Amino acid sequence: MRSKKLIAGNWKMNGTLAEARALAVGIADGLESELSLLEGCDFVVCPPFVHVGAVGAALAEPVGGAVVSLGAQDCAAVENGAYTGDVSAAMLVDAGCDYVILGHSERRQYHKETDSLIAAKAKAAQAAGLITIICVGESEDERASDAQDAVVAAQLAASIPDGATAQNCVIAYEPVWAIGTGKTARVEDVAAMHLFIREKLKERLADSAQMRILYGGSVKPDNTGDLMRVDHVDGALIGGASLKADQYLGIARAAGK
Ligand code: PGA
Repeated sequence: MRSKKLIAGNWKMNGTLAEARALAVGIADGLESELSLLEGCDFVVCPPFVHVGAVGAALAEPVGGAVVSLGAQDCAAVENGAYTGDVSAAMLVDAGCDYVILGHSERRQYHKETDSLIAAKAKAAQAAGLITIICVGESEDERASDAQDAVVAAQLAASIPDGATAQNCVIAYEPVWAIGTGKTARVEDVAAMHLFIREKLKERLADSAQMRILYGGSVKPDNTGDLMRVDHVDGALIGGASLKADQYLGIARAAGK
């Protein structure tokens, strides 16, 4: 898996249905017309739940079939039942998803998601056949007090479920202070953290060497090259820049080099 970078777009809570369709078509068409980009990277976009079906259909439109996988931004920890507002992993699979982002810092912050809830969601998602993108990362205060390693180690230990493998799980390191702020972590800090994460994974998982570790936080076309050349950076989780087809494609080009 690590032989190719994974370029994951997190659309968050943005866009009308028409905009979501147009963005999906723009990305899929762009990749179709530059098929060499598929040699270096795998691609996934994660629209809001309500647009998942339409985006899946739009991604499948280009002649060669879908070259971009579909993902969601969250799922429930339980299989079904009286859970108003929740969406199960099986429903996402049914709607065409291959991936689900879990434990994003915005879910941790605004919905008070704990590591144990994230692990339960990941377990349910993996059991349903989804590839989980589990997010970890320290806050600005934690970085300022040099607590980033301890914070990330604790998040990894408690939010990756037993049974996770390089096939069904991807880690995304996203320093919270770099998300949506235009501040990107320094290449040397990214290198240190990704190596640290690799070592932590090794303590627990048999195929840890193959597990993808993405970087996220203000990834743009012009900083992608430097970030993707760092050892143990196996792709990117992109928020803002994934909302524009030309930027997403620019990141794809820079990452594939
Ligand atoms: P950003 O978001 O690229 O807008 O910083 C990244 C993320 O939240 O995954």
